[in-house]
Amino acid sequence: MLSPLAMPHLERRDLATWSDADWVRCYALHARAHLEQGTTARSLDAYRTAQLAAANAAAGTRSWIAREGDDLVGKLDLTRGVAASGLVAINLYVLPEARQRGVGRALVAAALHQAQSDGAQVVETSMFQPESWRLCERFGGRFQRGGTQLTLRLEHANWDLVDAWRENGPRRCLLTALQEIEHVPDALAGAFLDLHNRTWCDQPDAEHAGPPLTLEARRDQERRYERLGWRWITLITREPRGVLSGMTDILYDPSHGELVRQNFTGVLPAYRGRGIAKWLKASMLHLVRRRFPAALQLTTTNADGNTPMLAINHQLGFGAPLHHRTYCFDLSHLREALERTERRAS
Ligand SMILES: CC(C)(COP(=O)(O)OP(=O)(O)OC[C@H]1O[C@@H](n2cnc3c(N)ncnc32)[C@H](O)[C@@H]1OP(=O)(O)O)[C@@H](O)C(=O)NCCC(=O)NCCS
Repeated sequence: MLSPLAMPHLERRDLATWSDADWVRCYALHARAHLEQGTTARSLDAYRTAQLAAANAAAGTRSWIAREGDDLVGKLDLTRGVAASGLVAINLYVLPEARQRGVGRALVAAALHQAQSDGAQVVETSMFQPESWRLCERFGGRFQRGGTQLTLRLEHANWDLVDAWRENGPRRCLLTALQEIEHVPDALAGAFLDLHNRTWCDQPDAEHAGPPLTLEARRDQERRYERLGWRWITLITREPRGVLSGMTDILYDPSHGELVRQNFTGVLPAYRGRGIAKWLKASMLHLVRRRFPAALQLTTTNADGNTPMLAINHQLGFGAPLHHRTYCFDLSHLREALERTERRAS
């Protein structure tokens, strides 16, 4: 039971030193955040692995927690932005029962202090809940971009259309072959990276989607998923003379067997408008149904302006949209706004 007035204790934490009990508490907080926004948390193991990888990555995520006794009531992660130098991203969650007591403000103030001494000038944060968007706007946040998480319940998929797209693909693209890969074969690595990076940077808001993929990063990710026991399956289309024209990939965690994450779909500009993306996505749905009988639903996230991808997903039966928004702040203005509210509160 939280005391109504006490301010929880704030700590900057090095995740590498956390005990199993710390991770269980931290995961409980993470799971509450997902529950509140209507999304599904990954397993504790997967969460721990992703957090440690983020802390060790070049972007060097650092974490602050708010603790009340043994319980965690809030956590903030600060990550150097991928899009530009001088940019940091903040990910913050405070338990509903610990809100309105300045916990979030104190966590943000601690992280901003650090970010400012690291030379950051701009802060961005992404949120699912409309009340969080209003809070960002009250603190001077500028809306940057939006996206939507969509869910497809397999039993509600438009299977007639799926079958038609799967049959029409090879009819419309007579010389194109479809192939499944998990570990990208060395012989295809160059063509695969070319396809991935040329289509990746064609997405709306691509400048925020991270740096180009390298073979080292791909291999590192393949090893991490393999250690977790996840299946990372990619379908590619191959053209004569070795060009890879399209791809789509999914991630499957057997310990959360009902859920499949549909990741990225991309087709090289010269091959668009011939039904390749539809063929790939329809074939992937068949693969999921055949190989993962426990799977009940797929989730995917699309940028709000991605008309072709949204149209394809809508026709397949993806729905239950959950919108998220990214806001951006000038660091010094945000610090001043926080100090003003702190003065008013004291
Ligand atoms: C999105 C993308 C994968 C589509 O690839 P594609 O092979 O051209 O797609 P297809 O030919 O299978 O299907 C395109 C369908 O999009 C829809 N579409 C395209 N432009 C559209 C528009 N402006 N409005 C509505 N629907 C549109 C149509 O349904 C069209 O099918 P149809 O004309 O045959 O009925 C490709 O544009 C791409 O690689 N974009 C960059 C990467 C990206 O944004 N990926 C999505 C992030 S997950």
